[in-house]
Amino acid sequence: MGAILDGKKIANEIQSEVAHRVKLLKEAHKRVPHLAIILIGDDGPSHSYVSGKTKACQAVGFDYTLLQFAATISEKKLCKHIEQLNEDGDIDGFIVQLPLPQHISVEHITALIDSKKDVDGFTNHNFGSIVSDHPLLLPATPFGIMELIHRYHIETKGKNCVVVGASRIVGAPMSLMLMEQGQATVTVCQEFTQDLKGHTLQADILIVAVGKPGLITADMVKPGAVVIDVGTTRVADPSKKSGFKLTGDVDFDQVLPLASFITPVPGGVGPLTIASLILNTLKAYDRQHA
Ligand code: GUN
Repeated sequence: MGAILDGKKIANEIQSEVAHRVKLLKEAHKRVPHLAIILIGDDGPSHSYVSGKTKACQAVGFDYTLLQFAATISEKKLCKHIEQLNEDGDIDGFIVQLPLPQHISVEHITALIDSKKDVDGFTNHNFGSIVSDHPLLLPATPFGIMELIHRYHIETKGKNCVVVGASRIVGAPMSLMLMEQGQATVTVCQEFTQDLKGHTLQADILIVAVGKPGLITADMVKPGAVVIDVGTTRVADPSKKSGFKLTGDVDFDQVLPLASFITPVPGGVGPLTIASLILNTLKAYDRQHA
């Protein structure tokens, strides 16, 4: 039976460490890190992620500013706000919550963010630093997963790691981090990879980030594998007050008995993304105020 990789517990540990540092800053009468978050439109999941992020700021003692705009905001106006945040000496880091409305180019917006304040680790500069000797602000979700693997003492060196999903936010940087920091042998698959099962069955560590509930079934997992599920799809559930439940890409009940470790959804990777954002904000603060 697999052991649960408790992302919430590790995220709490990380946040306690950061809160301790903030306490020391306050005692030294220094200003505390300040995170700004841009949230556009009414996307339900985005509002709930951002609420988790502002709560984490409160929990660790950071200052935060939430800038909310209607989905109709023009790209030009959004660019102006980003330029202001780049210039604002009181803001140590900021993020633009994705997804953005169709008329706004994520690539254009990301390119405008000053990489020193890019606490999501989305800019080309930070992304590229994954494969340098001096990593900068690393993409938050894969950074959190590496921290989870590390804190559970799971060996990656020389292991077969299979990443399903090659997004710029998760799959692509995840594979680079496993290769570079983890010294693993890495295979990157897509949802539509031919013989996906043939690849996933080779995985000592299987990381799935597609957003398709039920994609990974028990027959696709090697006994004893470590399984990390990044999927968070809202699936209708009338028994819940909200009317939905968050569901991962892995059939948890089926896979649990064969895995050595597995992340639950919710309570696995989600809290770690937020903890990484907090860590990156502290790092950005330190870099700019050392
Ligand atoms: N949307 C889904 N995940 C993320 C994330 O990690 N950062 C931002 N900015 N938007 C997201």
